[in-house]
Amino acid sequence: MPSFDPVSVRADFPILSREIDGKPLVYLDNGATTQKPRCVIDSMSRFFSRENANIHRGVHYLSREATDAYEKARESLKEALRVPASHELLFVRGATEAINLVTHCLAGELHEGDEIVLTIMEHHANIVPWQVLAKERGLRLRFAGLRDNGELDLEEWRSLFNERTRVAAFTHVSNVLGTRNPVGDMTAYARKRGVLTLVDGAQALPHGPVDLGAVGSDFYVFSGHKVYAPDGVGALCGPRDFLNAAPPYQTGGDMIEQVSIEGTTFRAVPERFEAGTPNISGAIGLAEAFRYMAGIDWPAAHAHEEELAAHATRELEKIPGIRVFGKAPDKVAIVSFLYAAAHPHDVGTILDTEGVAIRVGHHCAQPLMQYLEVPATARASFTFYNNHDDVEIFLRAMKKVVRFFG
Ligand SMILES: Cc1ncc(COP(=O)(O)O)c(C=O)c1O
Repeated sequence: MPSFDPVSVRADFPILSREIDGKPLVYLDNGATTQKPRCVIDSMSRFFSRENANIHRGVHYLSREATDAYEKARESLKEALRVPASHELLFVRGATEAINLVTHCLAGELHEGDEIVLTIMEHHANIVPWQVLAKERGLRLRFAGLRDNGELDLEEWRSLFNERTRVAAFTHVSNVLGTRNPVGDMTAYARKRGVLTLVDGAQALPHGPVDLGAVGSDFYVFSGHKVYAPDGVGALCGPRDFLNAAPPYQTGGDMIEQVSIEGTTFRAVPERFEAGTPNISGAIGLAEAFRYMAGIDWPAAHAHEEELAAHATRELEKIPGIRVFGKAPDKVAIVSFLYAAAHPHDVGTILDTEGVAIRVGHHCAQPLMQYLEVPATARASFTFYNNHDDVEIFLRAMKKVVRFFG
């Protein structure tokens, strides 16, 4: 039975009891990476202590055991994400590699004058690979803007589609504004027009389960390190037939059927796109993180993290000169703000002296910064293991910033 106790959940994350210069760590940089529960750390330690071997190629016991653990990890992730039967889940390094893999696969399918619809709230990972592809193939990129509250302007987004539109790529949740996009409606709109969709799920999955059947995208990507799992591992879910027909992204061991000096034939997915030794322990840690998340009562966890973010937003807005970005009705617990009297880097540096970790800068979303006409923001990103003490210490540290610069 899933449960959520905001007090006991913190004990699952060993790092949260750390002190920074004698002050309790207040970790509000969850948008950049999340902390790992003990069970994830233990699953990887157990793998290296007991099972470590290379996979797929060995006849010995440990290799069979490691292969089994790796493939079970894939199957359990497919189940947790409700990956449709027509789709496969590939292990990759993370969201960035997944999107690069998709643009590589699409290169041969796109022609001069074809169009790709993006949004202005994308992370660079979901802009730059498309820009490179556009340059190579003579494509046109079109960007949908936002409404004043930080929601995607869906009317504008829909108006960008025409007979040349081939792909629509958009984030599930904005890493700067916290806006959650109505991805199911968006993929349905695109599908009706024969347009392929890619959804960047990097900031959505840390805030609860996602049903890929309901999302309905062709491609869905995410990074392990943002979902309480290790770095260097993530996943791409995509249509099996499309991927089997696409040219391999990388070539080498494990992805081949037959190699001779005349040439090579390639295996089907998933191996086709997992050349070389993969991140075996990472896949195991990722599956363990999903198992951990399945034990959380998400409606209760959401209510908790939303209350923290709402409280932080309310109190920040009482400070003269503070502007908070992103007030979409459907948003996750990310609070981006700008203080008129100080550069975000100075804000972040002073908060750090109080043990408070936030992120400052352009958040790998420079087009969004240009759109909002700001150089950077400070971002406090909350998750279910944060608590009211975290918010109070953060707000107290902000008072120190005001005393210094105000
Ligand atoms: C929305 C979004 N997409 C993609 C990425 C890229 O993730 P990674 O660096 O793990 O590949 C991030 C990371 O911040 C992100 O927030």
